[in-house]
Amino acid sequence: MATALVILAAGKGTRMNSDLPKVLHPIAHASLLEHALIAGRALDPERVIVVAGHGADAVRAAVSEIDETAEVALQEEQLGTAHAVDQAREALQDFAGDVVVLYGDTPFVSAETLERMVAAREGADLVILGFEAADPARYGRLVMDGTSLERIVEFKDASAQEREISFCNSGLMACDAGQMFDLISKIGNENASGEYYLTDLVELARAEGRSVTAVACDESETLGVNSRLDLAGADATFQAKARKSLMELGVTLMAPETVYLAFDTVIGRDTVIEPNVVFGPGVTVESGALIRAFSHLEGCHVSRGAKIGPYARLRPGAELAEDTHVGNFVEIKNAEIAAGAKVNHLSYIGDASVGEKTNIGAGTITCNYDGVMKHRTEIGARSFIGSNTLLVAPISVGDEAMTATGTVVTRTVEDGDLAIGRTRQENKPGRARKLMDILRAKKVKISKEAK
Ligand code: UD1
Ligand code: CA
Repeated sequence: MATALVILAAGKGTRMNSDLPKVLHPIAHASLLEHALIAGRALDPERVIVVAGHGADAVRAAVSEIDETAEVALQEEQLGTAHAVDQAREALQDFAGDVVVLYGDTPFVSAETLERMVAAREGADLVILGFEAADPARYGRLVMDGTSLERIVEFKDASAQEREISFCNSGLMACDAGQMFDLISKIGNENASGEYYLTDLVELARAEGRSVTAVACDESETLGVNSRLDLAGADATFQAKARKSLMELGVTLMAPETVYLAFDTVIGRDTVIEPNVVFGPGVTVESGALIRAFSHLEGCHVSRGAKIGPYARLRPGAELAEDTHVGNFVEIKNAEIAAGAKVNHLSYIGDASVGEKTNIGAGTITCNYDGVMKHRTEIGARSFIGSNTLLVAPISVGDEAMTATGTVVTRTVEDGDLAIGRTRQENKPGRARKLMDILRAKKVKISKEAK
């Protein structure tokens, strides 16, 4: 059975107090909407329609970055959840299969839950995802009749007795596309909010003799984000889960609660992560690596046996081969560091390649930017770059070559050559003592004059 996802993302999110549409706020470096899209992928959807309204241009741009095949339908006025789904009608007019409705601000629904919803469609025309709420608050209540769902009553429209129900509506549902759009046409807005409620589908479906059921999931999966506080809470929930699953996979986190992970962080078995390490998006670390305290990694790859940090910064395009060492206060960007190479102290290596077993001395800088363009530095294998070498790119240094400490490299260094480019030192015998005497005398004179 083909599936189309309709993701509701038109709401303003007033309580976020933000210029950014709510669904674009991030958790672990992916927007709420991206989390919802990732969750929806479990159903291998044939079509994905995101309903955007507030900040539609920004949402459209974000959607095209996340998934080129996803479409955006515009909901100009937010007249309610049924009206929102109705905006996907045109895009889906030739679609045959099931529509699964997700919320763009509900990032944590699991693949397993979505699969259970779809499976439940075998026995029911309309499947609603519900959850037992610890605090039902203002959620819509599911009025059950045995295993079948009689109706959903919104909090505002509920009687005191109905408000006692703790089985609540997550908002997610699955239904045949044709049936869903037919029923949506019949939904009115005569209710306490004056909105077109998607939840009215339940009663309308039953009135036509169709079967409606509810599938339950854990409340944590239906967690919605409405405020910055919710966002921080949702991020914390995500982090706790992600750390736990890494540890289960055999990664050591020395102080788990201080490690910040991205939604797509991948770390291999027996890698050790010291305290206070931050992962941005797009990081993979192989097995048996060591990431020492206070390091920051994003968009990079760290191979088996590498040792990173403390206080290292790996930026996008940093490719570290096996057994490389990157030490304190070293920044690496868009550069390949080959196996066994070392960059141990206080260096910037950007737009570069460093060959096998090469040693980069303390304070080495690749001068990659001329103010307008970026240029590359190529360094060969088994070479030795002396401390405080400046490599003025574009530049290359061969294999088994050396640069003397303090050299400013502006010309190619061939294989096996030594480059020295610094002012020649001259020594003046006895001059230091004389100079000291002169300076001391001067100081005495100045302090006498001051009195
Ligand atoms: C909705 C449900 C309620 C459920 C709750 C779960 C209805 C009538 N009520 O209520 O039963 O317990 O979700 O969180 O469906 N949206 C649009 N366009 C609109 C209106 C909403 O895109 O015109 C989007 C919002 O951005 C949000 C989602 O739909 O992602 C839910 O809307 P919201 O207004 O938060 O619904 P609730 O009143 O919380
Ligand atoms: Ca809501």
